[in-house]
Amino acid sequence: MLKLAILVGSLRKDSINKKLALNLMELGKNLFQSEILRLDDIPMFNQDLEADLPAPVARMKKEIAAADAALLVTPEYNRSVPPVLKNAVDWASRPYGAGVWLNKPMAVCGISGSPVGTAVAQSQLRSALAIVGARLVCFPEVYLVESAGFFDDKGEITADRTRQFLHGFLQCLADWTQKLK
Ligand code: FNR
Repeated sequence: MLKLAILVGSLRKDSINKKLALNLMELGKNLFQSEILRLDDIPMFNQDLEADLPAPVARMKKEIAAADAALLVTPEYNRSVPPVLKNAVDWASRPYGAGVWLNKPMAVCGISGSPVGTAVAQSQLRSALAIVGARLVCFPEVYLVESAGFFDDKGEITADRTRQFLHGFLQCLADWTQKLK
C-alpha cells in the first residue's frame, strides 16, 4: 500500500481543512496508508539552524522522505498561502541539495469559506513546489467552498457527488505515484 504524508495548513481545532484531510484519509483508505503530519511544533524557518535542524523539523523531513507521496491541504489567508504551510515547505526544501520534495509525487487541495475556494493559495503553493522539484499532479483541481451542511455533525462530507469526486482525485494521485515509482 502506498504511504501518503498529509500536511494541513491550519492548526486550529475546528479547521475545515483538517476535516477535509480526515475525509480524504477515509475516502482513500483503499489507495493509501495516510498520516497527517504534526506541524504545530515546527519553529519559524531560520537559515542559521540548517546545519543542525531542530528535532521537529528533522522528524517532519524524515516523515515526508519516507512517504511515497504527499498531499497539501491548504486554507487561504489574505489571498495567499498560510504561514504554517509555507514554513513547512521551506524547511523541507533545505539545506540546499538535501531537501525532501525532489521528485515527490504530490497534490494540493483546499477548502475555504469564500467562493475563491483557496485557488490563489493553491496557485502560489504550486509555484513554490515546482521550484523544489516536486512532481505535482494538477488535475483535477480541488477548490472547495464550505457552505451550510457541507460537513455533518461528525465532520463527514455529506454530498455523495463530492465524496466521489474526491475519491477520483485521490485515485489520480495514486496512479501518478505508481507511474513515477
Ligand atoms: C481568511 N479566510 C479567507 N478565505 C478565503 O477564501 N480567501 C482569503 O483570502 C481568506 N483570508 C483569510 C485570512 C485570515 C487571516 C483568516 C484567519 C481567514 C477565511 C478562511 O477561508 C476560513 O477562516 C477558513 O475556515 C480557514 O481554514 P481552516 O482554519 O478552517 O482550515
